[in-house]
Amino acid sequence: MHHTASPPDTYDTLEEKNHRANATSSPASGVTISFELNVNGTIHTLSLDPRTTLLDALREHLHLTGTKKGCDHGQCGACTVHVNGRRVNACLSLAGTHEGDAITTIEGLGGVDSLHPMQAAFVECDGYQCGYCTSGQIMSAVALLGEPVGPHDADVREAMSGNLCRCGAYQNIVAAIQCVRGKA
Ligand code: FES
Ligand code: FES
Repeated sequence: MHHTASPPDTYDTLEEKNHRANATSSPASGVTISFELNVNGTIHTLSLDPRTTLLDALREHLHLTGTKKGCDHGQCGACTVHVNGRRVNACLSLAGTHEGDAITTIEGLGGVDSLHPMQAAFVECDGYQCGYCTSGQIMSAVALLGEPVGPHDADVREAMSGNLCRCGAYQNIVAAIQCVRGKA
């Protein structure tokens, strides 16, 4: 289901804007491929350099900036989205390989008036500080609900180890996830 979009700048931070201003989003080879991407239930037709990552396609071409670019090298989890319900680092995946897949970003998870229970739990448990890692944390946390993860906090920490938080909000992130799992 496609939820009402938030204003485009809702998830933008000053740091992110500066980063984007300095970044080259996609390599320019002069070659493009056309393909369709199903993002949050909406089909988009794109014509992009075949080397464009899913992350850049989402952010730079579909303007879904809730998905963050941290390391761009698969190290931080800020770019986590769901592909057919499973969590994926969008910076490590080529957009053109996802034709026919169902992609969900944080914008598709819930909106201001219809928060996903995990989003509500992050608010309730104070599971963020600067918020830069938060959409990736939440996308990972929601995917985790469908994974064979043990009941203990240590199990959650292990399952969330691919999502870094430089603010160190880990304790409250685990608390939010355990609350939604009914393990708090
Ligand atoms: Fe993708 Fe860091 S931006 S893992
Ligand atoms: Fe700042 Fe996680 S809340 S990086």
